Amino acid sequence: MNFILKIWRQSGPSEAGQMVTYPVSHVSQDMSFLEMIDELNIDLIQKGEEPVVFDHDCREGICGMCSLFINGEAHGPGRAVTTCQLHMREFKEGDVITIEPWRAEAFPVIKDLMVDRTAFDRIIQAGGYVSVNTSGNIPDANALLVPKVDADAAFDAASCIGCGACVATCKNASAMLFVSAKVSQFALLPQGRVEAAERVQNMVRQMDLEGFGSCTNTGACEVECPAGISIENIARMNREFLKASLG
Ligand code: SF4
Ligand code: FES
Repeated sequence: MNFILKIWRQSGPSEAGQMVTYPVSHVSQDMSFLEMIDELNIDLIQKGEEPVVFDHDCREGICGMCSLFINGEAHGPGRAVTTCQLHMREFKEGDVITIEPWRAEAFPVIKDLMVDRTAFDRIIQAGGYVSVNTSGNIPDANALLVPKVDADAAFDAASCIGCGACVATCKNASAMLFVSAKVSQFALLPQGRVEAAERVQNMVRQMDLEGFGSCTNTGACEVECPAGISIENIARMNREFLKASLG
């Protein structure tokens, strides 16, 4: 297959960027999107040009590192897939494919298609954990009964991979879907209730400090989320925040 790629090139955080056109040929329909960029990079290196910088790690839809805006959609066409799980058979022969980085003030571009998502790390550091007594003197996990419905909802929330597609997709660059998933996975379980009020307040405060926008309930984040995180989590986080503020 042959394609015309239009890729955002930017040499550094404070440099001006631009779209650059690259024709690619001999692409197998079974290649993943990232393998196709690998091939382009091999060609660029052989020609003595700078390869395209992009984030990736597991290439199995687990780590949340791959973060490309493809033809105007986070993680490209298709639902519930990450960029690394996207295959070239999803495109038509001769397609023009635009590839851009996540665009959000809180995710500044480092180089080309790679953005700085450490804002998410700082939100997690503000409260996205459960403090555990590691003395060895702790009750058996099975001693604490959790209703199946709560366990399932907590598990679903915990499947957020922290990719940032929700932020990139939201017209306000809101991080509410991500933060609400991280708040919910603990709020739904007895182990997480102990620090629930403190957690939601600290994480929301950090989210605002990082410069993410507000949620206006458009629901676009839920549509583009590769992990299928529901905006019901945002409603839960708002309830948790209100409860914590009144308590
Ligand atoms: S909520 Fe979905 S889109 Fe947002 S960071 Fe988590 S997995 Fe990615
Ligand atoms: S590279 Fe890990 S989710 Fe895509």
